[in-house]
Amino acid sequence: MNITDFDIYGDLLKKESGLVLSQDKSYLIESRLNPVAKKWGYENIGNMTNALRAVPPKELIADIVEAMTTNETSFFRDARPFDIFKDTILPYYMKKPSANKHLRIWCAAAASGQEPYSLAMLLKEEAAKMPGWRFTITATDISNEILEQAKGGVYSQFEVQRGLPIMFLMKYFTQNGDKWTINDEIKKMVNYKYFNLLKDMSVLGKFDVVFCRNVLIYFDQPMKKDIMERISKQMADDGFFFLGGAETILGITEDFKSVSNVRGLYAKHDSHHVEQVQVAVAAN
Ligand SMILES: C[S@@+](CC[C@H](N)C(=O)[O-])C[C@H]1O[C@@H](n2cnc3c(N)ncnc32)[C@H](O)[C@@H]1O
Repeated sequence: MNITDFDIYGDLLKKESGLVLSQDKSYLIESRLNPVAKKWGYENIGNMTNALRAVPPKELIADIVEAMTTNETSFFRDARPFDIFKDTILPYYMKKPSANKHLRIWCAAAASGQEPYSLAMLLKEEAAKMPGWRFTITATDISNEILEQAKGGVYSQFEVQRGLPIMFLMKYFTQNGDKWTINDEIKKMVNYKYFNLLKDMSVLGKFDVVFCRNVLIYFDQPMKKDIMERISKQMADDGFFFLGGAETILGITEDFKSVSNVRGLYAKHDSHHVEQVQVAVAAN
């Protein structure tokens, strides 16, 4: 692919989704966009590129963005954030004198649903310790196709073997041939919505805990900063913010501060509840 054509896709992806494509990834454009070109009746990517130079239909742009997203995920990915959520964050809320007993969680790049369903299973397990509490899990993504998969809750043998404890597989899934479907009691705990992180977040409401893992890694520094700072505005003052293992706030924003000893866990910079949580983390 020549540089001018590459720039057309690079600019479009950055503007529409935040994704930054380096020139060495031009092979990705070829392999992922060939099926999009075919679907739209273009003989090759070159012809589709010409269409983009004019006024392309917004459905074509959405298909291109969708094809370029990386949806890699797994149940209980990296394990530790989920242990911290169960052993430290939930107990924090249990102890908190709370008038409305409502915990609002947002998975901001939910992909095929393993992350929100992992949280839903944990909440189901812990619910008996939190009588009277309501849990809302909002799970969003920019890809409609991956959201449809997430809503279906059907996983391959390979997917359920990655990170999902066998006890949860037996308890919360039903086997159909070589596929496993997550049970309705877990499915209905998660509300899936299309949402682009570049857009106005106030439409989503406020949250106590936000998981925004393994998506900002694809964005540049100003975009990461902008998204993190807008997320912080959607969070309760004593909320918690989880990033992926290779992501950090350091050098990007001061709207959050680290919860020491826990890589990837943050609180709002002016919150006072962090010390309590740090002590609890150290004790677990
Ligand atoms: C690698 S997956 C991460 C899934 C999960 N959070 C995890 O850590 O396993 C990244 C997801 O971010 C989504 N994504 C990419 N750009 C986005 C944007 N601008 N707004 C919302 N979601 C986006 C992709 O569609 C993809 O499903």
